[in-house]
Amino acid sequence: MPNGNGCVYLVGAGPGDPDLLTQKAARLLKSADVVVFDRLVSPEIIDLVPAGTARLCVGKEPSHHPVPQEEINQLLVRLARSNRKVVRLKGGDPFIFGRGSEEAIELTRHGVRFEIVPGITAAQGCSAAHHVPLTHRGLATGVRYLTGHCRQDLELDFDWQGLADPDTTLVVYMGRANIADIANKLVVHGLSPDMPVLVVCNGTTQREQCLTTVLSRVAADVADSKFDGPVLFIIGKVAGLAKVMEPRDETTGDIAVNALA
Ligand SMILES: C[S@@+](CC[C@H](N)C(=O)[O-])C[C@H]1O[C@@H](n2cnc3c(N)ncnc32)[C@H](O)[C@@H]1O
Repeated sequence: MPNGNGCVYLVGAGPGDPDLLTQKAARLLKSADVVVFDRLVSPEIIDLVPAGTARLCVGKEPSHHPVPQEEINQLLVRLARSNRKVVRLKGGDPFIFGRGSEEAIELTRHGVRFEIVPGITAAQGCSAAHHVPLTHRGLATGVRYLTGHCRQDLELDFDWQGLADPDTTLVVYMGRANIADIANKLVVHGLSPDMPVLVVCNGTTQREQCLTTVLSRVAADVADSKFDGPVLFIIGKVAGLAKVMEPRDETTGDIAVNALA
């Protein structure tokens, strides 16, 4: 049974643009006693936290967790038990590759009240920012969100045959380190090497960078890029609609369409 007056709000901060916060998230940020946030939450959103509110950064970086998940769980339980209104702020949506569900399970186990406040996930924010529909009649009948990174850096063990479906949009989170392997396996299992890819870094923020490419070149193009921040890959025919698409030299093999322009 829940005890005490404390409550933890597992809140999605969206992909970065403060205007993409839900009204509920914005309201909770203003009324929280303490905000516990991840590195991925944009500074523009942290700026919305009132000056008098305690802020605790438990920032995680790929393969480097300054505050282990177990300690974050304990911290949330402790704060709630001291009757605080806690906003646990996570980039995007807390239940999409955000470990929000693990925290919710721990809070339940300790009888702590909590609420989930969904956020706009990176796939939606980044695709919309570039006018890319994740589904589109005639181009994509479905969409799949994938992690490009496994626990303890284990090899990605996916149903590659099932993933290599030209009518499905694939959105790869946390895929920068493994994109060469991912692209290669998709091609080996039947996707065209010319399949369009939109790559977005720091999507929806002032620091946004992006490139459009094709599967056979995506790893090299990202390696050549100066991307500095979280990177998302949108793979599929719909990526050919990206508004950032520029006509390319025919000899490069890159796509040269901008169907929504
Ligand atoms: C741990 S996951 C968290 C995902 C988050 N819960 C969500 O729903 O968007 C982190 C990954 O999300 C993606 N990501 C999050 N925000 C992003 C942004 N603003 N631009 C590009 N990719 C982003 C990147 O792939 C990053 O490596």
